[in-house]
Parts: sequence; structure tokens; C-alpha cells
Amino acid sequence: MSVIDEVKDRIDIVEVIGESVKLRKSGKNYSGFCPFHPNTRTPAFAVFPDSGTWRCFGACNEGGDVFSFLMKKEGWDFSETLRYLAKRAGVELRPRGPEERAEEEAHRRLRELLEEAVTFYRHQLLQTSEGSTVLEYLHKRQLSDDALETFEIGYAPKAWDKTLNYLLEKGYSEAELVDSGMVTEREGGGFYDRFRHRIMIPIRDASGGMVGFGGRVVDPKDVPKFINSPQTPLFDKGRTLYGLDKARKAIRTTDQAVIVEGYMDVIALNQAGFANAVSPMGTALSENQLRLLKRYSRRIVLALDADVAGSQATLRGLTVARETLDRQPDPVFDARGLVRHEGRIDADIRIITLPEGVDPDEVVSEDPSAWPVMLAEAQTVVDYVLEVMTTDRNLEDPKVKAEIVQQVLPLIEDVADPVERETYRQNLARKLRLDERALLPLRPKATRRRTRKAPSPEVSLEGLVSPQVEAPIERFCLGVLLSDPELLYRIDRQLQALDLGRVSPQDFSGTDHRVLFQAVREALAQDEEEPIQHWRNHIEPSLVSLADSFLVEVVELDLRLPKVLEGIMANFLRLRKRRLELALNHLRFQLQAVQEIEVTDEELHEDLWHHTREVQRIASQKERLDRALSGPTRL
Ligand code: UTP
Ligand code: MN
Repeated sequence: MSVIDEVKDRIDIVEVIGESVKLRKSGKNYSGFCPFHPNTRTPAFAVFPDSGTWRCFGACNEGGDVFSFLMKKEGWDFSETLRYLAKRAGVELRPRGPEERAEEEAHRRLRELLEEAVTFYRHQLLQTSEGSTVLEYLHKRQLSDDALETFEIGYAPKAWDKTLNYLLEKGYSEAELVDSGMVTEREGGGFYDRFRHRIMIPIRDASGGMVGFGGRVVDPKDVPKFINSPQTPLFDKGRTLYGLDKARKAIRTTDQAVIVEGYMDVIALNQAGFANAVSPMGTALSENQLRLLKRYSRRIVLALDADVAGSQATLRGLTVARETLDRQPDPVFDARGLVRHEGRIDADIRIITLPEGVDPDEVVSEDPSAWPVMLAEAQTVVDYVLEVMTTDRNLEDPKVKAEIVQQVLPLIEDVADPVERETYRQNLARKLRLDERALLPLRPKATRRRTRKAPSPEVSLEGLVSPQVEAPIERFCLGVLLSDPELLYRIDRQLQALDLGRVSPQDFSGTDHRVLFQAVREALAQDEEEPIQHWRNHIEPSLVSLADSFLVEVVELDLRLPKVLEGIMANFLRLRKRRLELALNHLRFQLQAVQEIEVTDEELHEDLWHHTREVQRIASQKERLDRALSGPTRL
């Protein structure tokens, strides 16, 4: 729960507003004379304790929560109001988590420590006699000094404490050395260097920050062949791809990422001019690694070993790929506007089968021009799996046939293009000598979209739409705007085309949400900074983590996909619809309240007329909205 929610939770809105407005109970709710505009006839102001909101039906025609009430009443800004209410509610406001800041600082030091180690190992490789033998070996492998520099290859000396002492001298503590993974704790106490007599390969995250090392043997008799940094606060093997920091740009420009198996392959390919290669670090490709990659390109080539183990690993990798890449990019918005993922492959995954016992490293060392040819000849997933599955099998055996169909058919079903899909199905049928129609009943059932009932528009007076119901859509919409402020222009245009006016703070229920929305508007209204930088630099510190949590929710969305944009627009329409429904409900409450009060006929008529006209106005907006929502939404 955010501090803001906690405050709202503890504060009684009726009590706070009751201090300046005389409230009269009417059912579950309260009414009174509006403190913001001259209002002496029928009470135009109402408070709804269930949803923690208030509204003026008169000249102000405005509403909000306890925050916005005080901001308006006292002329305070959001921070002042938060401080006041937090104090009143007994909620402690921490000045943006000292713990988080301490952690950030600790991470920064660990990265710095690792940078020191990079320098140390470079020095050992280039300036010592031990190192010169290693350098010779690297040169013999045709690695250029340029490549060694780009990848900052170094050498860990043959000693138990040289690295350790160097780093201690640089001012790092033993605890930090352990945390960084550079030393190992001795059983009887004390520490020693984790990497000894090894070729050191620095591992950086996608943005270039040091996270760990891979250490390759110098002496082929040493085992294991590679020692990698352990899991540390900075290093998570399953979420890191070796070389991504250097491959990122090339992956974008070539719109292709090549996944190879080893560090040395990445380096050799880069040296040969193929900079779009990355590798996992001795583990099977993980979901997180694919997710990471997919931000840069959806065209992925897996270049893996020819041996059986390689093929098995590839099949495993493909399963992961299918489960991650293939469905994520196709979000579906359900009736409640929540994002789900379902659908077909929107990634082009291809496979290169390397000649037996040959690495990409060896391919390019021998003949660089062979590599692009191999890339161009990479097989599609379906062809590859079909080949792996049918090689050396008795295709007359019905059991074998069934097994192959079971494995391959789901892959075919994932192909986005229907014509392509049909071609694959025909190929499969031909290869197995099956009637193509026989493949149809076996097709996995298309996952039905579970159509959840949309919340009924008829909300009773008692159960005014609660903020919790609206929260997911608000969070989603804010997440989208915070991550891409410029989208707001397009959304505004679409709303205006429907004669519904621009997105406004009033579309959001909570003041915290409104303040964040306002920050997006303001970010767009200036041109000193990037809009994202601007809102980040200008929002109240207590809202930072809230904003971040919204961003996290939409991080997987690809805003270039038309389907995603449609979904976004639909959610903004839903947001407005909620607001109109809420206003209608409030108005009905008000009509009832007016009728309960004894006033002269004439005055009553005027108010009734005002409310009825308002109801009509809102109803016609809602109708336009419903029509827009019933068809495809454009953005
Ligand atoms: P390779 O044995 O193919 O290594 O392992 P390589 O990178 O091609 O190195 P060279 O060409 O023999 O010098 C492939 C990858 O598997 C991981 C490493 O990431 C390595 O780059 N690996 C391998 C380990 O993590 N530990 C090991 O013991 C072996
Ligand atoms: Mn190799």
C-alpha cells in the first residue's frame, strides 16, 4: 500500500470535510452547502464515505478525494496536504527510503570494485611476464588487440591473494569483496581469490554496468573450463546476456539478434564485423533473457551446436521462446481492460545448425564471409523441429507419426500468417504421408477468451463505483502516459474527435493519480527536458515509487503494435466512461437529496431542471462512448 493509500485509509473524509462544511446525513452519504461557491438554496455538495469522495453538483461541478478537498479549501499543494494528512493520520513519511538509498550506494560501490578488478586484470595481461604468455595464446586464436580492448579481456594471476590484496588496498572491505563474488570464503576462516590463472572476461549488463566475470582456463588441464561469478546483488546469470551492452546497437540497426553459445563466439563475431551476437553463460536460454532481447529485436537467430545435446538444448530453448516471446507481444484487453497475453508468434525465430564440432568462432576465423550465408540459410522453427524429429525415424510407424504431430503442430499453430500456416500444415502432412484433414482435429483448441462480465453500468446508490474497481484501468492508463507522454496528444485527438474533450485530471479518481497525470501534462508543455525526465524531476518524492509501480505494469507493452494502441485507446475510453457513470450515479443521489428537502416549488424546479439537463448531457456523452467502444478503437 502506498503512503497515500494508507493516509486515505486512516482518514475519515466525513470528519475532515465536516470541520468546515455542515453535513447532513442522507442514507449512507452526506450532503451540505458547497464551501467553494455561493450556495444557499438546495445543498449542492455531497460526501460519499464509501468511496472516500466528494462532489459539488452546482457551479463547481467538481469532485475528488480528501486530498483534493483540502488542496482546494486551503490552497495547499499536494506535498503540503500530504504532510498535513499524514501527520493527522499518524502515518510516517519517509523521505524517499533511506534503505533504498543505502542499497543504491552499496551497488554503486560493488560496480566500482568490479571496475577496479577489470583494470587490475588488464594490467596483469598487458604488463606482466605471466600475462604475456596468455596474450600470446589469445593472439594465436586470432584475437586482435582491438577486440581484446573492446571486450576488456584480462588475466587473473596465479595466486591466492593478489586480486584480494589489490582490492583491499583500493579501500574495499572484505564483506564487499565477498558480495562482489571476487573472493571465496575459506572454510576455516579467511578468504582467497576466486579467479586464479584464468583469462578474465568482464560481464556487463545491457547498459554497460559491471556485474561479474567469466574466467576461462589458461591451462587446458584445469577444470572447470569456465568459472563464472556467483549470483551476487549485481549478477543474475538468468537475466544477463553476455555482450548485450556491445551488441545492442547492432541488434537494433540490423533488426536481428544472434544467440551463440560462448563468450569467445561473441567476441570473434564482433571482431569479424558481426556485432549483433550475444550469449547466455553456460545455462539454457531463460525467459528473462529472451524478454531482455526482445526489446531490441524480434528477429532472433539461435546458432547452436550440431551434436545431440545441442539439439535437445535447442528444443528446450525453443519451448522457452515459444512461451515467452511468442505470446507476450500480443496482449489482449479483457472486458475489464486488464492486459492478458495470448495469440500467435510475433517473433521470427530461426535456427542455424552448425557443422559438427564447429563454433561460430571457428566459422568466422576461417572465413568471415561464411557467416552471413549461414544466417541467411537459417531454418524456421517449424522446419528445424520437423527435421530434428524426422531424421532417422521410421515414419511409417503410427506412434512416431503421432509423436511428431504432437510436437510440431503447436508450433505451426503459432505462426501468425495464415497462408504460411497452411503451407506448413501441408508439408507436415506430406512428410508423414497423412491426409491433411487428419491434422485438423488434432489442432489444439484455440484458447477461448474468457469473457468476464463488465461491471454493470447500473450501480446502485449504495454501491457507488468504488475506487478499487477503477484502479487497474487508472494504473494502466497512467503507466502508459508516464512511459510515453507524447501518446497523450494522440489520445486527446481521438477523444476530441468523439466530442468528448481531452483527457483531464478528473478522469482519474485519486488525487495521487491526478497529480501524476498533471505532471505528464506539464512535462509536455515544456521543452527544456525530455518529457520523461521532466515529470520524474518534478513530482513529489512520495509519488516516485507509485509512478514506478505503474511503469512496471506496462513495461512489457510494445507501443508500436497497432493492437496495443487500440487497447490503450479503449482503456482511455473506459476511463471516461467510468467517470460519466459515476457522475450519473452521483446526480441521482443528488436528485433524491433535493427531493428530501422542503423547498418552494419554484426553486426545486430550477434545481431539478439543472440536474436533469446534466443527466442528459452526460448520458449522450456516454452513448457516444459506448458506440466507440463497441467497434475497433483507433489510436
Ligand atoms: P565452450 O566450451 O563452447 O566455450 O562453452 P567457448 O566460449 O567456445 O570457449 P573456447 O572457444 O573453447 O575458448 C560455451 C559457453 O558455456 C559456458 C561459457 O559461457 C562458455 O562460453 N561454460 C562452459 C561455462 O559456464 N562453464 C564451463 O565449464 C563451460
Ligand atoms: Mn569455442
